[in-house]
Amino acid sequence: EKKKRIFSGIQPSGELTLGSYMGAIRNWVDLQEEYDCLYCIVDMHAITVRQDPATLRRRSVNQLAQYIACGLDPKKNIMFIQSHVPQHAELSWVLGCYTQFGELSRMTQFKAKAKQHADNITAGLFTYPVLMASDILLYQADLVPVGEDQRQHVELTRDIAQRFNSVYGDTFTLPGAFIPKMGARVMSLANPESKMSKSDPDGCVFMMDKPEDIMRKFKRAVTDCETAVKFDKENKAGISNLLTIYCAATGKTLAEAEAEFAGQGYGVFKPAVGEAVVELLRPLREESERIMKDKAYLESVYKEGAEHAAYLAQKTLSKVYRKIGF
Ligand code: ADP
Ligand code: NA
Repeated sequence: EKKKRIFSGIQPSGELTLGSYMGAIRNWVDLQEEYDCLYCIVDMHAITVRQDPATLRRRSVNQLAQYIACGLDPKKNIMFIQSHVPQHAELSWVLGCYTQFGELSRMTQFKAKAKQHADNITAGLFTYPVLMASDILLYQADLVPVGEDQRQHVELTRDIAQRFNSVYGDTFTLPGAFIPKMGARVMSLANPESKMSKSDPDGCVFMMDKPEDIMRKFKRAVTDCETAVKFDKENKAGISNLLTIYCAATGKTLAEAEAEFAGQGYGVFKPAVGEAVVELLRPLREESERIMKDKAYLESVYKEGAEHAAYLAQKTLSKVYRKIGF
C-alpha cells in the first residue's frame, strides 16, 4: 500500500522556538517512518514581510541544520528550501487565477497580519494562502500537519483544488489538515494568554538559546499570586503553560507533575521547568551547531532535496499547464 504524503514547512522569518519544536518539528519526526514526507523551509512565504537578505539566507540553511538535529532524516524525507524549486511560484500564479478576492479577504491570519504590518500590506501578504495551496497541491499531499491557526488555509487549499478539479477533471489530491493530538500548544512566558512566538522575544524560548538564558526566562515567567502548582487554564494560565511545557519536556503526565510539586512553591517549580527545557534542548543545540559548520554537507542535502522535490512538482505543473491551455 502506498504511504500517505505529508507536506509541512516553517518560515525562516525568525529563529526556531520551543513552540515550533514541541508543536511541530517533534511530531514531524514521529511521522517520518509512516508517511512519505516533504519538509520545507518556506523562504518565499517569509518575504511577505521585509527580511534582511543575508540573515534570511543564513537562517534558511541553519533551519535545515536544526531540522536534522531534531531527528529529521534527509534520507527518509524530502527536505528543501522553497525558493530552490521554481514550480511553487509558477503554480501559485495559476491558482491565484482560480481564487476569489473575497475568499482571501476572509482569511483571519491576513486580517491579523495586516493590522500588525499596517504600513506594508503587500499583495504577497494577501496572496500568501495561494502560495501555501501551491506548496501542498504541487506534491499531491494527503495531509498537512498544521497548527489550529493554519486550518483555514488548508480548507481554502481544498476549495481551490476542488474548484480546479471540477473544471478540468481530476488533477489535485484533496488535502486534509492533520492536527496531531500530541502537539503541545506552548504559550508565551511573558503573556500566557497568547501563543509563544518568535515575534514576541520576551516570552519566547528559542531552540538555540544558551542554558543561562533559558533559566532566566523561566524564572521570570509570569504566573499568578497563588502558590499551588495546579493545571487550571482559566484561572492559572501561566502555571498551566509551565506544566504543559514540563510534561512535554519530561514525558511525565500532568498528574505526576502536580504530585511532584505538591506543597512546593513557584520558586521551586519555575527553575525545575527551566532545567527540564535546558536538558531537552541541549543535545539539539549542540548537534545543530555541529551540523551548521558542515557547509558542504548542508549544501548536498538542500541540493538533493530540491532536485527530488522539483521532479515531483514538475509532474503536477505539466499536467496543470496542459489542462489550462499552455
Ligand atoms: P510560521 O511562521 O511558518 O507559521 P511558526 O513558528 O509560527 O512559523 O509555526 C511553525 C509551526 O510550529 C506551525 O506548525 C505552528 O503551529 C507550530 N508552532 C509555532 N509556535 C507554536 C507554539 N507556541 N505552540 C505550538 N506550536 C507552535
Ligand atoms: Na504559524
